[in-house]
Amino acid sequence: MASVVIAGVGSYAPQRVVTNAELSRTVDTTDEWIVSRSGIRERRIAAADEACSDLAIKAAGAALADAGVTAAEIDLLIIATVTADSPLPSTACLVQHRLGIPAHATCFDIVAACSGFLYAMEIAYGQLLTNRYKRALIIGAEKLSAVTDWTDRTTCVLFGDAAGAAVLHKVDTPNVGILGSDLGADGEFADNLYVKAGGSRAPASAESVGARDHFIRMNGREVFKSAVRVMETVAREMMEQHHLTADHISLVIPHQANIRIIEALAGNLKIPMDKFYVNLDRFGNTSSASIPLALDEARRAGRVKPGDLTLLVAFGAGLTYGATLIRW
Ligand code: ACO
Repeated sequence: MASVVIAGVGSYAPQRVVTNAELSRTVDTTDEWIVSRSGIRERRIAAADEACSDLAIKAAGAALADAGVTAAEIDLLIIATVTADSPLPSTACLVQHRLGIPAHATCFDIVAACSGFLYAMEIAYGQLLTNRYKRALIIGAEKLSAVTDWTDRTTCVLFGDAAGAAVLHKVDTPNVGILGSDLGADGEFADNLYVKAGGSRAPASAESVGARDHFIRMNGREVFKSAVRVMETVAREMMEQHHLTADHISLVIPHQANIRIIEALAGNLKIPMDKFYVNLDRFGNTSSASIPLALDEARRAGRVKPGDLTLLVAFGAGLTYGATLIRW
């Protein structure tokens, strides 16, 4: 019996810190409103010349070093992002070339919004377990500031830029590493969180730019309700499938969107809040980077010990969602 384990984790957040006070000088908001409604106090914003691939490369370098692996040993690269450097080519190809991952590697991007890192992990898990590849690098990287409408107070206070990465490989030991995943997608809720223009439905035009249609639009209340519902469902399913109660879970790493969503999830699952890792106060919502960024911090903070069970749980635009159970 074999398993797929996380051999290394790394992350990167841009230097520039933008506080709620700074935002309140440009849009009609307050630190008090943002903190009480979301829990977010500040976020990192990438430099103008820093794109998704630049963030991804820094996180990937840290994950490779943590795993003690060189880029030459990677044969599968998956980047989860909704903010690729450009529509073509994939950001994965740019990262492959700049990191020095061999040209025979399989490299591609996936779009699953904030659930993207868990989707990437599930794909890599299956490919490694069936011996199709030896070593996978999975990255969640986002420059959400590039698709944020900085004049819209209902969204701009929520998002930030970052990247997180993990190196995965197979081991001949049963019951360690990724124990299972439960992913889902429900396009019925697609209209609650979207970017209207820039694709084949509404190609970029002077009108679409004028209408600010290249920025994220969101029905926050509906996203909130769906988020709590789907994350509770997949987290419960994951625990039931593995015959676990809340007591068995040492740490939950939820997608970092809103502290009230996390508190509602914790209450519904009856898992105490001190078992939830939270860093959204410092980074805001970084979409597919949020879980690996939090995972990297949690490991460095000593929140993950051998034998521990960690539950990763996410939701995002789509509506996508998922939960992944890991034994360290
Ligand atoms: N500052 C001050 N007031 C604001 C702000 C702001 N930044 N934003 C909205 N308001 C106002 C609204 O206009 C509204 O005013 P009104 O009552 O006069 O109409 C009032 O505050 C309340 O607005 P609500 O939307 O009801 O506030 P709510 O408590 O729902 O909080 C929030 C809004 C924080 C967006 C919440 O709904 C939320 O977190 N939703 C989930 C968002 C999310 O997780 N998105 C995930 C994105 S994932 C991805 O894939 C990128």
